[in-house]
This record gives sequence, structure tokens and C-alpha cells, in this order.
Amino acid sequence: MEDMLTDDKKPSASTTTSPLPTSTLPPASTSPQAAPTKNPLISRRRFLQGTLAASAVLAAASVGASGQILGPLIPSSATSQEIISWVQLDNQYQLVKDKPGKFQPINYSEFFYFPYDSSVSPYYKNVIARLPDPLVNPLNASDPKLKHVAAFNVTCVHLRCLVNPGYDTASGEFRLQCPCHGSQYRLTDGVPVAGPAYDLGLNPLPEVQLSVDANGKISAVGKLNGEPGIGRTQ
Ligand code: FES
Repeated sequence: MEDMLTDDKKPSASTTTSPLPTSTLPPASTSPQAAPTKNPLISRRRFLQGTLAASAVLAAASVGASGQILGPLIPSSATSQEIISWVQLDNQYQLVKDKPGKFQPINYSEFFYFPYDSSVSPYYKNVIARLPDPLVNPLNASDPKLKHVAAFNVTCVHLRCLVNPGYDTASGEFRLQCPCHGSQYRLTDGVPVAGPAYDLGLNPLPEVQLSVDANGKISAVGKLNGEPGIGRTQ
């Protein structure tokens, strides 16, 4: 009887309900249910305060000394730019005109940027060429020097590759030739005569308006007659 009482008080191995001593619990950090510890480098409040302060600094920086909001920095365009002298351009031509291997417009032409330099856009690249005799520029036909000269923006109006002056053996004509898809433009007036620019009925190349002074210096003046990549519409 005493044994039976003693046995009733013994806890069975499978029905234990007593809490384990604290010393026997696993460490909290190794429990699979424990939440990850958060330790942000900067609090949300600090972050918002910093953002507001940076916005205030940027807003102040956009206001000039006059107290007005500064506009975007747009480079100013040149309205006049000396390119080359007539004597130099004509000499280049005279040197090669009787040499079939070198009688290419690329040898008596010059590239230049106008009215913006190349840091603004590569599409303001132009070429001036001494027209091989007996060609005459119909846009400057009344000037004794400039009628022998043509200047155009070299941005192809098809897909904006840059054209070069050359000689087209198939047609026997001097043209501005596009290396990308074969558009060709007359050297005298920049009108498309072959390739997709011609097939699609696109505009002539923009014309650079020229003037020549008493010393024979040739300059680009005014604005481009037309837009690079679009061509001239009048
Ligand atoms: S970009 Fe010149 S022909 Fe296409």
C-alpha cells in the first residue's frame, strides 16, 4: 500500500508539466522562433531630417545672386565664325585637280562645327568644299568666289549618320555620300539624288550661309538654313 502511494507521487517521464529550470533553456538567439535583431544605422526620423536639409540646400543653390531661379544652362550659338580663306581652299583644289588619284572633294574641303561646337552635339558638323570646275553653287551664284564654294551640315537626313564629300564613279558626279545606307546628295546644293534619302523624298541637307570679306576670309554667318537630321524646308 505504501508502495502504491509512493508510485502515484512519482512523475512519469511522458507526462511532465513542471517548468524546466531556467538554466536548462536554450539561449534565445538559437531559438528558431526568435525575431531577427534590428539595428538600423540611421533612424527614420534622422533620415527624413537629412532629406529635408539636402532639399533646402539644393533649392538655395538653384537661386542666383539676383534672387531669381536659375534656368537650364543652354549654350549660346555663334552667329559668325571664320572657316578658311578662299586662297587656301582654292589652293587645295589647284594642287590636286590634275592628279586623278587625288582629285577627290575630300582633298579640297574642310570640316568645321557651327553654330555650336562639338561639345554640344556631333550633329553640328559641317563641310565646306571648293566645287570642282565647272560646277557652280546655285545658292551663291552671283558671288565671284562663293559660287565656287558649297557648305552643308553633314548630318544625313535619313538616320543621322555623317556624310562625306566624294566622287561617285557610277554617275560621274561629285556628291556627299552617306556610309550607312548609301544616301547621296549633290555637292552643289545638298539635294538627295540616291539612296533612302532620295527614295523617301527627304529634305536637302541644311545649308551653311557664307560670307567672304575683302581679304578673302570665308565665314559662316547667321543660322543654319535647316535643322541637322531634318534638312532644309525652304
Ligand atoms: S543614315 Fe544616311 S543613308 Fe541612312
